[in-house]
Amino acid sequence: DWRMDNFVEESITALRDTVKDARVLMALSGGVDSSVTAALLHRAIGDRLTCVFVDHGLLRKDESEQVMEMLSGTFHMDIRLVNARTRFLALLDGVSDPEEKRKRIGREFIAVFDETATSLGSFAFLGQGTLYTDIVESGTKTAATIKSHHNVGGLPEDMAFKLIEPLKTLFKDEVRALGEELGLPHAFVYRQPFPGPGLAIRIMGEITPTRIATLQNADAILREEIALAGLQDSIWQYFAVLTGVRSVGVMGDERTYAETIALRAVTSRDGMTADFAHIPYDVLGKISNRICNEVHGINRVVYDVTSKPPATIEWE
Ligand code: XMP
Repeated sequence: DWRMDNFVEESITALRDTVKDARVLMALSGGVDSSVTAALLHRAIGDRLTCVFVDHGLLRKDESEQVMEMLSGTFHMDIRLVNARTRFLALLDGVSDPEEKRKRIGREFIAVFDETATSLGSFAFLGQGTLYTDIVESGTKTAATIKSHHNVGGLPEDMAFKLIEPLKTLFKDEVRALGEELGLPHAFVYRQPFPGPGLAIRIMGEITPTRIATLQNADAILREEIALAGLQDSIWQYFAVLTGVRSVGVMGDERTYAETIALRAVTSRDGMTADFAHIPYDVLGKISNRICNEVHGINRVVYDVTSKPPATIEWE
């Protein structure tokens, strides 16, 4: 892609001019935007980029390992993986309200990132994966402010960094092309969006280690079957939700009283509006069978057939 080819060259020159011999810090979320930003910065300044990846324990199954393997293993980036799982669990203990979950996760993320940054010495710059759409949507607000509302990667405005946002003229499809140009795997770059607060907003009610594992296992089955059916490129987002609804079922000769998984899959152009995806019944049937058979604590699976509006894509 010649456009991206030029973009890479020009960005690298510009980044080197700006950063000179200073150090840049970045928060990785595991998502496409922050990963591509990190890859570009790494190409420009190498070891003077340090990334912090806060694992809040609310990522999809094996996700933090996969991201680390690619960026740290393949690309040799300097990434500090902070395992903050117990901290986040403690903080979410007994919390069911969606907005309260979001607020606590956002605040704690910043606290962990801040502590880690302080322990790593001084950085003149903070890299962020802000896109053109983030800036447009924010109107008069700065990108930094919008991110702190919207993303776990948001940071307080009083942090003593200068912001570096090398993707801020790009749209999502251009970021994906750029990612591929920089050598990130196709499947990674074309992955579905994932919200900053992660699985916390896909678990209705209280978050416990058992319920996280239950959701991760159900979600992994859904993703596997969507890939097997070759549907992954035609669906904007697809994921499982742990609904908190318990219902009566039967297994062998036993009565069960267990939780319900909802499957959510939508088509969309930009996430602002969405339709439920018309997944073939036989694929839904297979997913349902597998989840009930393989995931302990689930005896019922339902499919969410609501568009956005009136529903949102996520359940919380
Ligand atoms: P909703 O649920 O509002 O979501 O229809 C629209 C899109 O945004 C994603 N989303 C988030 N992304 N931080 C994010 O980075 C968040 O707090 C957040 N909440 C929702 C959602 O996955 C969908 O793609």
